[in-house]
Amino acid sequence: MTVEIVPLPLPPTLDAPKFQWFGREVRGVDPSDIDPESEQFKEIERLLYKHSILLFRNANLSPENQYALTKAFDPTSESFGHGNNKIEKDKQNILNRTLRGIPRVPQVQLIGNGVVHDYEGFSEMQLEHPSHHTWHKTRLSPEEEAAGYTRFVRWHMDAALYEFQPPRVTTLYGRIVPNGPKQVVRYDDGTGDELELPLAATAYASGKIMFELLPRELKSVAVRGKVKYAPHPYVWVSTAKAKSTALGMETEGREVPLDKLPPWEESKIQITPMLWKNPVTGDLHFQVHPYCVAEIFINALPQGVSRDAALYPDGAHLADLKEVRDLLYKMQRPAISPQFVYPHDWRENDLIIFHNRGVLHSVTGTLHSNQVRAYHQCNLAASDGPAGPDEEDLRKWL
Ligand SMILES: [Fe+2]
Repeated sequence: MTVEIVPLPLPPTLDAPKFQWFGREVRGVDPSDIDPESEQFKEIERLLYKHSILLFRNANLSPENQYALTKAFDPTSESFGHGNNKIEKDKQNILNRTLRGIPRVPQVQLIGNGVVHDYEGFSEMQLEHPSHHTWHKTRLSPEEEAAGYTRFVRWHMDAALYEFQPPRVTTLYGRIVPNGPKQVVRYDDGTGDELELPLAATAYASGKIMFELLPRELKSVAVRGKVKYAPHPYVWVSTAKAKSTALGMETEGREVPLDKLPPWEESKIQITPMLWKNPVTGDLHFQVHPYCVAEIFINALPQGVSRDAALYPDGAHLADLKEVRDLLYKMQRPAISPQFVYPHDWRENDLIIFHNRGVLHSVTGTLHSNQVRAYHQCNLAASDGPAGPDEEDLRKWL
């Protein structure tokens, strides 16, 4: 059975030739009624890894359906990507204010803005749209916000990055979508970059394009590189401030000291390759969660490989936080430039499945408390870790 797909409408700001492969709308398939064993689902799974984002319009699915759909991509996964009902109990976690596990299906999170009543087991729930106000080192002035400027909030993938393996996919279902004029993301990093986008659009950057944009010498670093995440990284950064582009933290020595974190074990700390291999296309996606990285390891170039212009030819272990973040920023910033960001223009009942091991994403937009937004999000701690580059990739990119 072939599944009907059509390209997503790409905004005029996007470098369209580079994004021809990116994103598809799936038609004629009911995402609430998926048989994980069916040929139809296998086709959808292939399409997801090939195109990074699949969109279903006018979806109608319960939290139970959404959990089942998400689980189909990793049948032995069970718990939410950060563990069930953990974030709600952890006041220090930076995600504590924005995620609410739906009581019947705690793997599915209610996110959004404003107050909802009698909603999926909540008699009343105050939702809080993530904002750069409390998270970035600098903030837009009230006048700038009144003029329609906003920021990316946090570029990230959905992953605990401690104890739980990074989810393969995230499903995001827009039940109540706020209306309002477009806003303009300001980067405020001295480049003058700006991006006009629909109100509260979810912004996506491709890890595949992030890798492709690197100059040769940084591709060699990426293919040899691994990152080590901090223990309880979302608590670790809770006292620090983010960059104005939302792509990682400023380094001011404000992280929670390791001995002041909740109890942690070395064995649960995650070390992952910088590049994650796409299980269907074989492409390499630069997948590093910029906030949570503490250290970088780079392997030495093997004998016989040219060292001309090579960076870190003898390998390196970077443990200085500023050095770590500066290198990552240099590698990741090009791919969030306006022409490489796909902002999804939500319609009510859009369901998106995205390849969480192949893209980074960010909330955008500034909402007033009367602009109600209610989305259901599900991702599941994976049954395995991501695969890195293989021998052929090394030969090609060292
Ligand atoms: Fe997310």
